[in-house]
Amino acid sequence: MTKGRIFSGMQPSGKFHLGNYFGALENWVRLQHEYECYFSIVDLHALTSSYEDTKKLPENIQNMALDWLSGGLDPEKNIIFVQSHVKEHAELHLLLSMITPLGWLERVPTYKDKLQQLGQLNTYGFLGYPVLMTADILLYKADTVPVGEDQLPHLELAREMVRRFNNMYTDIFPEPQARLSQAKLLPGIDGRKMSKSYGNEIPFAASPDELRAKVRLMVTDPQRVKKTDCGNPDVCTVFAFHKIFNSGEVAEIDAQCRSASIGCVDCKKRLAEHMVTALADNHARRQALENNPGRIKEILVYGAERARTVAAATMAEVRDAMHL
Ligand code: ADP
Ligand code: NA
Repeated sequence: MTKGRIFSGMQPSGKFHLGNYFGALENWVRLQHEYECYFSIVDLHALTSSYEDTKKLPENIQNMALDWLSGGLDPEKNIIFVQSHVKEHAELHLLLSMITPLGWLERVPTYKDKLQQLGQLNTYGFLGYPVLMTADILLYKADTVPVGEDQLPHLELAREMVRRFNNMYTDIFPEPQARLSQAKLLPGIDGRKMSKSYGNEIPFAASPDELRAKVRLMVTDPQRVKKTDCGNPDVCTVFAFHKIFNSGEVAEIDAQCRSASIGCVDCKKRLAEHMVTALADNHARRQALENNPGRIKEILVYGAERARTVAAATMAEVRDAMHL
């Protein structure tokens, strides 16, 4: 049986955090064993909303590659590359834009939402975001796209675009299927969803001591003031993290918190050590890469070469189909 093919990307925003790891990267690390995977640092997508100041892009791209490799993505097993290094993404985006009715794009819920939040985002590039995403998927004829619930409308649009292209010209593209990822939402140190826009994140790059410092800052049950007060783990951020990083001791900690036989300080210390252990492999891989600065560039050049070969073959078919 031939393996299914996946395309997925992440924007190099510069602040990769534990929420991103558990919400997305960890899933990719599992998928790399089941599928042929194209994982792209989608810098052109980043430009659709952050186009004014692009000086930090090279550093952010380098850091994202470091995050991915530290997280366990294998650069031999997967094709790992930077979107803008493969110019075919821009070319297919342009050609697909010719056959994309404006109404399809204006209907996308994220477009309508973001437009209301950020009026200045009303650019051609931002509206065309889903066209670029469709080009990303189609260039590699990916049949599977791992998505969260919120991304389903984008994928539906990609599928519509495939049907339109195949009917209008020649049947070359498979309709990509969604592979819904079970969203594991990680809270930030203040208890809200971990997000760079709240400033409550724990960087994925945090060293053991930085992890311990972040855990010390986590909010606990606000009703529990003294160590002798009984706590309610259900409203405690530290407990939410124990569930993820220390699942073996959850029942014990639950009972100890409710009976005040463990204090928040000790509870945090226990959590921190479990987190340090759980993330030790990631940390070791990161240190090895940091000691070998040329390695990441090499991996990205190699990935772009492999991606380009496939993308160029697809574009030859597209040009042929469109008589270009
Ligand atoms: P942020 O909210 O920090 O801006 P992004 O929106 O850039 O994060 O998210 C990038 C990826 O990480 C997405 O796949 C998203 O679902 C996932 N992700 C972000 N924050 C979390 C979180 N707190 N828990 C789980 N997954 C998350
Ligand atoms: Na977000």
